[in-house]
Amino acid sequence: MIENLNRKILFLAPMEGITDDIYRKVIFELYHAQGFDFYSTDFLRIPTIGAMPAKKTISHLGHFFYNQLPGKKTALQILSPEHANIEENIKAIEQLKIPWCDINLGCPSKKVNGHKGGSYLLQDLHSLKRVVDRVRKNFNGFLSAKIRIGYKDTNSFEDTISLLNDAGVQQITIHARTKEQMYQGHANWSFIKKAKDKSQVPIIGNGDVNSPTDIDRMFNETNCDGVMIGRGALRNPWIANCYKQDHQLFSDQDYRRSQIRSFLSEFESELFKRNQKESTILKRLKSVTKYLLEGDDSQQLIRSSFLRSRELDEFKENYIKLY
Ligand SMILES: Cc1cc2nc3c(=O)[nH]c(=O)nc-3n(C[C@H](O)[C@H](O)[C@H](O)COP(=O)(O)O)c2cc1C
Repeated sequence: MIENLNRKILFLAPMEGITDDIYRKVIFELYHAQGFDFYSTDFLRIPTIGAMPAKKTISHLGHFFYNQLPGKKTALQILSPEHANIEENIKAIEQLKIPWCDINLGCPSKKVNGHKGGSYLLQDLHSLKRVVDRVRKNFNGFLSAKIRIGYKDTNSFEDTISLLNDAGVQQITIHARTKEQMYQGHANWSFIKKAKDKSQVPIIGNGDVNSPTDIDRMFNETNCDGVMIGRGALRNPWIANCYKQDHQLFSDQDYRRSQIRSFLSEFESELFKRNQKESTILKRLKSVTKYLLEGDDSQQLIRSSFLRSRELDEFKENYIKLY
């Protein structure tokens, strides 16, 4: 997917329950090429019986992104244990001409791991190989994988990188935590560097990137081919824009205030366009605002009045009280 390795490529991380097609479209529309270069859906579970209806797959990717396919900007992330009906489902994705599939090998959830999917596969490399081989055999498009550095420990890390390279995976994103760490503790970037030294295919670094300075540090310390940003982008959806335009903007409060307003206003109009009820719009705007103002001590009062609003108009009045 990375065509020009001389550019500093930035990815928005998939985050279930947040970065759906509405969220991705809002960021895309606000920043275009001056924002993230690539996006990913959150995971689509491959069913055990039958094939996913085309309508469901396209709606997960988002109609807007499906129609942008020539741009190949968005990965459809799949999550598949070995017992899933991989062949039929991957062929169905192929028939939709979706050009890029990403295999989720990092989800730490109890339910997903109980069904032997997500990060479970990092501790069973035989099963992992069979899953990746079956996906690869049935998918001619670009195939990537998103992994963690291990399940309980990191003993199989290098074998996992070799396995994915040998199985025809064309790009590997590394969230530099183990499954045991969940989302806590620090991300150990030395594994990203290790993978870079070993892998023939591009390596995307992920974990604990919260500012333009962190993006530069990740590139410099690991020599990775691209950087993926998760929770840092929920707090600052404009982080890629600051990185590309001017790093100083990131700490500029006027810029931040204007971006929060544009983001919420674009979000609201996107939800209106989709004929959502006012109560649904309010709920969704509150959920994104929770992240936007997280950790911003100067805004805690406003944050709580945003979150307590009972009407959309009341919520909007709070825009002007920001900062
Ligand atoms: C709420 C939430 C949902 C997530 N959902 C997914 C997912 O569906 N697929 C996936 O590969 N990673 C998922 N992740 C992991 C992120 O993509 C990313 O790897 C992780 O948050 C580490 O990056 P960060 O330190 O920049 O947040 C999720 C993370 C969060 C916080």
